[in-house]
Amino acid sequence: MSQKIEITRIEKSKINDLDFNNFSFGSVFTDHMFECDFIDGKWANPKIKPYQPISIEPSASVLHYGQAIFEGMKAYKDKNDEVWLFRPDQNFERINKSAVRMAIPEFPDDLFYDALTKLVNIERDWVKHGDGRSLYIRPFVIGNDYAIQAVPSKNYKFMIICAPATLYYTKKLKVLVADKFSRAASGGVGYAKAAGNYAGQFYPTRLANDEGFDQVIWTDANEHNYLEEAGTMNIFFRINDTLITAPTTDTILDGVTRKSLIQIAKDNGIDVEIKKLKVDELKNAAKNGSLKEIFGAGTAAVVSQINAFQHKGELFELNELDNSYAEKLKSNLVGIQTNQLADHHSWRYKV
Ligand code: COI
Repeated sequence: MSQKIEITRIEKSKINDLDFNNFSFGSVFTDHMFECDFIDGKWANPKIKPYQPISIEPSASVLHYGQAIFEGMKAYKDKNDEVWLFRPDQNFERINKSAVRMAIPEFPDDLFYDALTKLVNIERDWVKHGDGRSLYIRPFVIGNDYAIQAVPSKNYKFMIICAPATLYYTKKLKVLVADKFSRAASGGVGYAKAAGNYAGQFYPTRLANDEGFDQVIWTDANEHNYLEEAGTMNIFFRINDTLITAPTTDTILDGVTRKSLIQIAKDNGIDVEIKKLKVDELKNAAKNGSLKEIFGAGTAAVVSQINAFQHKGELFELNELDNSYAEKLKSNLVGIQTNQLADHHSWRYKV
């Protein structure tokens, strides 16, 4: 039996202050948040309360050693105003995998689902209908010892905040294939959703932005020969009619969108190969015309098409396609998420 969650509701919602047709992803938060502390060896005092600043001391370990993990998931509204989560079990498993890698205590499953469903239910008016619209849910954990010894914290804060979501990318992307910087190294934390994995991308991504690219395609840290991820997304390539994506090793995030698209592709009779693809193979495929599509996949960005890439000064541009896999897979995925298509794999979870 889960611990009882204490609930304090706001007096007046700020929902009417937001123009839902004009805001950017991740910049506006809903009325409430969930908070739970790990103290004396256990998760305690779970609360849902008005969204507000938290108070931590400047010595808090997360501020010094980055002991922090997070998840990204979404809730969708169907035409009958029912609200659905998509594969929350996958996020729950992954946050605990990330926790283990970052020496953070795992979070109990009953409390995770109870907190998530109660919070999303309270915020259901913030889940809107329409293209690209959903509620982005951000569970996260921070190390919260007031001490600067470089050891795992004894105290933590687990929180869930929610942000109304809109389209993340509104155009096709032009990307730079990394030949110097890396996102993750073998034996490291690349497979975890560790906060520092994202901070480490900012500088190389800014350099790429300055050269006119939207994102960086990460390659392996040893030789920069193999294609790994696209910005904050997993990456897919269509060569002839085969869909190719990298296997989930310790440098690659086990993306929920990634694994769902693989299954949907197979359900649609598309050949899928989970294999390491070399940058040279990609360039050859672009040169001989067999490279048809590249796209990124992630919770925030869903499916984002890439129509140009550059590697070591050589730029490749992809032609427009009539029967794009990216569009087909995206519309199937969104159809399942929003309860417009049959859910053959029991991925939807009613709030
Ligand atoms: C997600 O897709 O949920 C991510 O983690 C990307 C995020 C950094 C915006």
